[in-house]
Amino acid sequence: MGLVRKALLAGSQSRWLRERAVNYRFVRRAVSRFMPGEDLEAALAAARTLQAAGIGSVLTYLGENVQTAEEAEQFTRHYLDVLARAKRASLGAEISIKLTQLGLDLGHAACEAGLMSLIESARADGTWVWIDMESSAYTDATLDIYRRARARFPNVGVCVQAYLRRTEQDLKTLIPLGGGLRLVKGAYREPVDKAFPRKQDVDASYFDLARQLLGREARQAGVRPIFGTHDPALIRRVEAAARVEALRPQDVEFQMLYGIRRDEQARLAGQGHRFRVLISYGDAWFPWYMRRLAERPANMLFLLRNVFTG
Ligand code: FDA
Repeated sequence: MGLVRKALLAGSQSRWLRERAVNYRFVRRAVSRFMPGEDLEAALAAARTLQAAGIGSVLTYLGENVQTAEEAEQFTRHYLDVLARAKRASLGAEISIKLTQLGLDLGHAACEAGLMSLIESARADGTWVWIDMESSAYTDATLDIYRRARARFPNVGVCVQAYLRRTEQDLKTLIPLGGGLRLVKGAYREPVDKAFPRKQDVDASYFDLARQLLGREARQAGVRPIFGTHDPALIRRVEAAARVEALRPQDVEFQMLYGIRRDEQARLAGQGHRFRVLISYGDAWFPWYMRRLAERPANMLFLLRNVFTG
């Protein structure tokens, strides 16, 4: 892992930095590239614009590691409202949540109850709930809760991270469950015994796991595979692997983050793939934005340009 990336990921956990950075106008302007706005209205408006271009959306309200049961309940209530409003607007939007938003640090029971209420409500609306994968300290708990949710509901999926050495083993037990599996590279700072430190190993792992998600066993189990990446080389390899499996473009679903690689977003949607953009919104954007900078330190230049542009 490069030094700049390491520093940015360390910075994402710094309270001192967060308290200062969020007050700078140039930082807020740079953040707006990845986020249509801080409130739900802005996210719904962005989802409407994408819908008009034939692109679906997944909505996620920024925030993680809540400290009280009241905060966790607020997040659950907020997401219930998101589902209701997305339904009223016929957006077909899905939601993506972090279990630490729903109070995982405070105990499993309340977190799980909140999650189940969201999945139940989403099922009534004909839509899905995705569970983000956070740092490796939460992998076991997240997968345990996902397995229990999946045993009760068809409309739930979980994110799996290609940089984790354990993911190959995890897929062996997750694939037979069917359900949604969203493959991403992984965005947190992890020790080398847990995660591959070199990009080429992460990319190789991503492709191996992608092939499993496209394979016959996954199809027979009814897995809904999602390829969450902006990496054009990997996307082309996944498309080629899908053709080898005789899958049609509409059988293969990609997701990207709002504002990243819009050229590739338009190409994939234009080719008939199922395609959704994950739209993040909310005022708790600091750690999330630092992870976006770490993914592509060149974004620092964009941040710095904003210092000088008004
Ligand atoms: P990579 O980082 O190698 O980038 C490939 C290319 O994409 C770059 O060369 C650049 O062109 C472009 N690009 C990538 N990131 C960019 C950025 N920030 N700004 C501008 N261009 C950029 N992670 C996690 O740990 N848990 C999770 O639950 C999720 N959920 C999730 C959902 C969805 C839909 C997506 C797309 C991603 C996630 N992630 C995630 C984030 C993921 O782990 C990963 O950090 C990012 O997707 C960046 O990795 P890429 O696969 O894009 O490749």
